[in-house]
Amino acid sequence: MPLHLTSRRQFISRLGAAAALSGASLHSADVDENLVAVLNDTHIGAQHPESASIPANLRHTIAALLALPRRPAAVIINGDLALKDGRRGDYEHLARLIAPLREAGVALHLGMGNHDDREIFYEVLQHEKPAAPVVESKHVGLVRLGGANLFLLDSLKATMLTQGLLGEEQLQWLTKLLDLHNDKPALVFAHHNPRLGGDPLHFPGGLEDSEPLWQVLAPRRHVKAYIHGHIHHREFHSHEGIHILNTPATSYVADKKASTTGWTLLRFNDQGAQATTLTHLPDHPWNNAVTDLAWRT
Ligand SMILES: [Fe+2]
Repeated sequence: MPLHLTSRRQFISRLGAAAALSGASLHSADVDENLVAVLNDTHIGAQHPESASIPANLRHTIAALLALPRRPAAVIINGDLALKDGRRGDYEHLARLIAPLREAGVALHLGMGNHDDREIFYEVLQHEKPAAPVVESKHVGLVRLGGANLFLLDSLKATMLTQGLLGEEQLQWLTKLLDLHNDKPALVFAHHNPRLGGDPLHFPGGLEDSEPLWQVLAPRRHVKAYIHGHIHHREFHSHEGIHILNTPATSYVADKKASTTGWTLLRFNDQGAQATTLTHLPDHPWNNAVTDLAWRT
């Protein structure tokens, strides 16, 4: 899997070699190693005209990321890439929308949600398909940054099934990988909300193996946060000292009075991270709202 399981340093060095060959200069200084952008629930459809709000929101978000004075070291789209059931045309449209990030050399990591179809996703975005999957039938990855390691999980159990599942094999892989990479804060990303720490209203549609996951995460003190989408809302919770971030959808919300669309910037510091919410509505109270997250010791 070319981008997943690739350290930022290796990625930069590959870019550096390419830049040297082309004679272009590599603006590695323009990358902020402590900055990560989190998007989720892009829900791009084949049939969306370019003027529709859902693709326009993703275009707006990508333009904002590319306009940052220093670019994020990683951009993560945390599942539900496709509109409803993961059709070929959905991913073709998504590929066109994310092309500016790829062309700018931004490290982009795509995750699976319950509205995705992993096989169709691989057929369209062929470079995402690993030659030898580390977890069978799951799209997972590790991103190693200066200030944190990001563990990207796949909670897609079945397309169009609201509940999510990691499964035993993925949990075993995660356990080994967490123990191998315990030198930095670990942040765990998956599309589905855990059935812990948050809003019980959403628990039935969340991650079926939340308890086994937490049995892996809680005793490993370097695990600091779990980040998910799926609910199309913004909330901050915690369970056993692990922050649980429910990050806004880029696409749409069910109730515009209660929620809105946007994305999240995570900036790491020595003690934790700052989560900044950005919204497509410039005057929304969440726009530029900063939440300080202190890592557990
Ligand atoms: Fe979802």
